[in-house]
Amino acid sequence: MSLLIDNIGELLTNDGPPLTDAAVVVDGDRIAWIGPAAQAPAADRRVGVDGAAVLPGFVDSHAHLVFAGDRAPEFAARMAGEPYTGGGIRTTVEATRAATDDELRAKAKKLVVEARRQGTTTIEIKSGYGLSVDDEARSLRIARELTEETTFLGAHVVPAGVDPDAYVDLVRGPMLAACAPYAKWVDVFIERGAFDGEQAREILVAGAKRGLGLRVHANQLTEGPGVRLAVELGAASADHCTHLSDSDVDALAGSETVATLLPGAEFSTRSPYPDARRLLDAGVTVALATDCNPGSSYTSSMAFCIALAVREMRMTPAEAVHAATAGGARALRRDDVGVLRAGARADLIVLDAPSHLHLAYRPGVPLVKTVLHDGVLQ
Ligand code: NIG
Ligand code: FE
Repeated sequence: MSLLIDNIGELLTNDGPPLTDAAVVVDGDRIAWIGPAAQAPAADRRVGVDGAAVLPGFVDSHAHLVFAGDRAPEFAARMAGEPYTGGGIRTTVEATRAATDDELRAKAKKLVVEARRQGTTTIEIKSGYGLSVDDEARSLRIARELTEETTFLGAHVVPAGVDPDAYVDLVRGPMLAACAPYAKWVDVFIERGAFDGEQAREILVAGAKRGLGLRVHANQLTEGPGVRLAVELGAASADHCTHLSDSDVDALAGSETVATLLPGAEFSTRSPYPDARRLLDAGVTVALATDCNPGSSYTSSMAFCIALAVREMRMTPAEAVHAATAGGARALRRDDVGVLRAGARADLIVLDAPSHLHLAYRPGVPLVKTVLHDGVLQ
């Protein structure tokens, strides 16, 4: 079944400059053709979009969706002046361990549906609220039902009452063995109070030996070794990148490691935002993602992150939209999403607006009117 989309006001492909008077033909779950509307081939169905902007579906390359409970009181305390430390992760671990598989599955699914309605057509999901062999494995089993981009984050924090060295051995040994069949990636939270560079290296190297790709929570709350380790080990992405030295920026600029910025976390923890301009000007590839989780960033809205990035992080609207689509795809090392070209996945969104500018210009407004995911209208 083929579908012709025309009367597009602005087509962003991430495969060249924005197009006007363009049309897209989708066949099954792939883009079949893009070109001038006047030359569009015939299709089984035609949808005109009344001069709206069309762009690739958002690629949310960083989300923690398998958890139970929420931490609204912790948010309220922060807004009353308490700092964010990551200590609340253990609260969510307790709630997650106590939940049934069906409860976890239903909650994660609800968030995926919520994200998709807002234009996210590819989403990465991490474990990290189980922190035992069985609870991490079941988190990843559930995540794998919802996405192929699953990440083992057994090294989120050391669970209460456990010896840190023994926990690192557990993570890189039996926990990794139980989780690797459901995971594509391995991640470590490198931070004071979580894991240091040497512990992270052991876990990441063990993950790589099992064939997992690497991603890192790096330099979120303080400067540290995270970004440099990510680059050294060839990680696909260093995420957060809020506190960077000049040598961190240089290391990223000379690498294939994407800097994934998560402004929802700075918003929700009332912290200074990462300096996207500094990274872009140095030639670093930047992605934007939600970090959706019950502690530091409980949003599934990529449009909200785009608006924050433009207003607070000195990104242009075009850079922010690119980072939320093509940037996320680079962070997941995917070339079939985040771009509209013949052969790519038929994942696209139609805005209730004539251009991508409106995503930042009209913050908080639900502008994603139509979502095509795998060629299927949602
Ligand atoms: O990416 N920083 C570590 N992990 C999450 C927060 C998790 C939580 O607070 O529950 C993050 O911000
Ligand atoms: Fe995170």
